[in-house]
Amino acid sequence: MSDGITGHTIEYKRSAELFNSSIATWAVSAAWDIGIFRVLDGADSFDIPSYAAEKGLHEPSLRATVRALTYAEVVEVDGDRVTRGATFEEFSRAKGLFQWLTKGYGSLFQRMGEVTHTAGRGDDFIRRDATAVSIACRDVNEVFMDEAFFNALAGLEFSVAADLGCGSGERLVQLARRDPTVRCVGIDIAKGAIDVGEKALAESGMQHRVKLIQGDARKLSQYPEFKDVDLMTSYLMGHDFWPREDCVALLRSIRTELPNLKYFLLADTHRDTTNQISDIPLFTLGFETAHALMGQYIPSLEEWESVFEEAGWKCTAQHAYSTPSSTVIFQLEPVSA
Ligand SMILES: C[S@@+](CC[C@H](N)C(=O)[O-])C[C@H]1O[C@@H](n2cnc3c(N)ncnc32)[C@H](O)[C@@H]1O
Repeated sequence: MSDGITGHTIEYKRSAELFNSSIATWAVSAAWDIGIFRVLDGADSFDIPSYAAEKGLHEPSLRATVRALTYAEVVEVDGDRVTRGATFEEFSRAKGLFQWLTKGYGSLFQRMGEVTHTAGRGDDFIRRDATAVSIACRDVNEVFMDEAFFNALAGLEFSVAADLGCGSGERLVQLARRDPTVRCVGIDIAKGAIDVGEKALAESGMQHRVKLIQGDARKLSQYPEFKDVDLMTSYLMGHDFWPREDCVALLRSIRTELPNLKYFLLADTHRDTTNQISDIPLFTLGFETAHALMGQYIPSLEEWESVFEEAGWKCTAQHAYSTPSSTVIFQLEPVSA
């Protein structure tokens, strides 16, 4: 069947669109790295040759990146002049999610076929870039998630805050800034994340009140820094506590090993159980596919809700995010034994 314009079939056009969208996806990620979102946030336009010269960029690569961005209407180009396009604001907000996909999990998706073979799932088959994931998540938090987090904090009194799977450590820096009497400790298993955090800490001058530890959040009893914690947070890593019996055991041990703990704000993306595909929201397909490839179970909302009471916690509130979709803050308080 012909579409009557190019002589190509509708199916061909769909495959071309998908291919071109993939290139535009990488261009959105690169646009963040080379400062295009920042420069067009502060100015109406930029000139390709001048911008390349000023930032030390390879002009043909910049031109090609900009052209790929026009495919998604992120920018418009008129000769050498680049201006904001119709989708600029939207992609500027979502850039962290694009970078999570391309730079954070690009090397896993690149090997999607290999790791789908059981023989391709050797010791080190999970390859991701922890540095890129932590930088991407810091941006996602700032754009989409921090406001609800700080709203949930209102009225909670605490003096020692901990963040499990702290990534860049930015949440702790913000907590320390918010209250000069608060001390903070974060733990992350990935060296790349801790390195990003240490650098940001040095820049913030908060090292005296924020400590970052490279270690396993499932083994908190090994770290004396956690013993006085009265507020615990964890963002976008709760699924790593699963399968269910492990999650229940861990939530129980957190409650018993940290006697001063009063609140636990646990925010995570849960499995989308609607099974929709045509209108599937931004992020969901990438998140669920990446974790399926890694063999990491993603619990549904109902499964999350089923563990708290059994583990000795009361869920006093839930705050749902629209982006990332299927993401909820569970506001938990320990039930006294
Ligand atoms: C998606 S990132 C989120 C980072 C951060 N919470 C944020 O919101 O920006 C998940 C983080 O959890 C960390 N992580 C995963 N399993 C962990 C474990 N068992 N112990 C400590 N950190 C873990 C990863 O290294 C990664 O930095």
